[in-house]
Amino acid sequence: MDFGLDEELTLVRDMARSFADTELMPRATKHDRQGTLDREVFALMKDLGLWGLTIPEEYGGAGLGNQALAVVLEEINRACASTGVTLSVHNSLIGAPLRKFGTEAQKREWLPKLATGEVIGAYCLTEPNAGSDAASLRTTARLDGDHFVVDGTKVWVTNGGWAGVFLAYVRTEPGTSRAKGVSALLIPANLPGIRVGKPEKKCGIRGSSTTEVEFSGVRVPKANLLGTLHDGFKIAMDTLDGGRIGIASQAVGIGRACLEAAVKYSKEREQFGKPIGEFQAIQWKLADMATRIDASRLLVQKAAWMRDRGERCSQQAAEAKLFASQTANFCADECLQIHGGAGYTDHFHVERLFRDARITEIYEGATDIQRIVIARAVTA
Ligand code: CAA
Repeated sequence: MDFGLDEELTLVRDMARSFADTELMPRATKHDRQGTLDREVFALMKDLGLWGLTIPEEYGGAGLGNQALAVVLEEINRACASTGVTLSVHNSLIGAPLRKFGTEAQKREWLPKLATGEVIGAYCLTEPNAGSDAASLRTTARLDGDHFVVDGTKVWVTNGGWAGVFLAYVRTEPGTSRAKGVSALLIPANLPGIRVGKPEKKCGIRGSSTTEVEFSGVRVPKANLLGTLHDGFKIAMDTLDGGRIGIASQAVGIGRACLEAAVKYSKEREQFGKPIGEFQAIQWKLADMATRIDASRLLVQKAAWMRDRGERCSQQAAEAKLFASQTANFCADECLQIHGGAGYTDHFHVERLFRDARITEIYEGATDIQRIVIARAVTA
């Protein structure tokens, strides 16, 4: 057993850390306040090969695995969670299922453009009445000659405003309910009949794009079916196993940012004649934060390692997301408490971390959904 990063992972980690320190840290507050990412960030991520980190080299990507993605996402999210989720969704929810389930023609069409960020990907599963209960989705795709005709509304679509391609889950078999009769379709964003809604005004990760996407009579070529007809729900779930590792990595990154801010402030702030970090009450908070962050990272790396080996890791990904997201919120809460009133203002970036952490317990399966996945696995 080896708990260290090998040479390749160390190089990738250092590259991501340097990018995060020099380009994202200085922009994170701006991203939050302006409600979008700077366009330069998209270009820089292209130059560094981050859009195509997990896309095979033969399609123009870096050909790295989930462990590398986890290491990179931790660094990026430590600096800017809005950039982090954008990259996580693009790699784990679009690039990964295309690589795994796509035909050769689909891979040739989309992966090279996804690898450079020329096309950004978005994952459309959730609907107004199908959130945690994803299998109750109602968007339909009716076959008409060589096309599917898609009608329905997807919500909370990360990257919705920037996407060049949507991976949408639609009901292709009329009369079926739940997971049966659902298919996965690759829908180019420029097809007639697609309406992308206004960006949602969110509590945190405000620099990321979250929109509604409405499909009205959108004609999608049959060749854009991803995987097997009527069996797409399994693609949605398998894909989320990978996505949840990404969000767990995001949570580790946010937790680390909170710990670093808390350590710094507790050394600077003096009360009762000494730095507050010399009080045991503060030291215990820092110790608990550090311990939970380290445990979260181990869960993340184990799930990513299993996924890289091609093993099913639904339970491990859910455990990583459950624990890491709770850790991020714990750390954000403690960090703000250590900062006192100052942490509750925009004088420090701590209030942004507090808001950004909150979403990690909600998207890609809320905390209780992770518990359902874990409980089903241990009782199976
Ligand atoms: N891999 C492969 N197949 C899987 C699977 C997995 N991880 N999980 C389930 N399946 C299969 C099952 O084996 C089953 O197949 P059979 O019918 O052949 O047995 C089928 O899929 C249906 O599975 P379930 O019976 O378990 O389905 P369910 O309705 O009970 O739902 C659930 C399970 C875990 C609650 C699921 O609905 C779920 O994960 N809900 C949360 C939804 C979610 O995470 N949404 C996130 C939206 S995306 C987002 O937030 C992204 C973003 O933009 C940031």
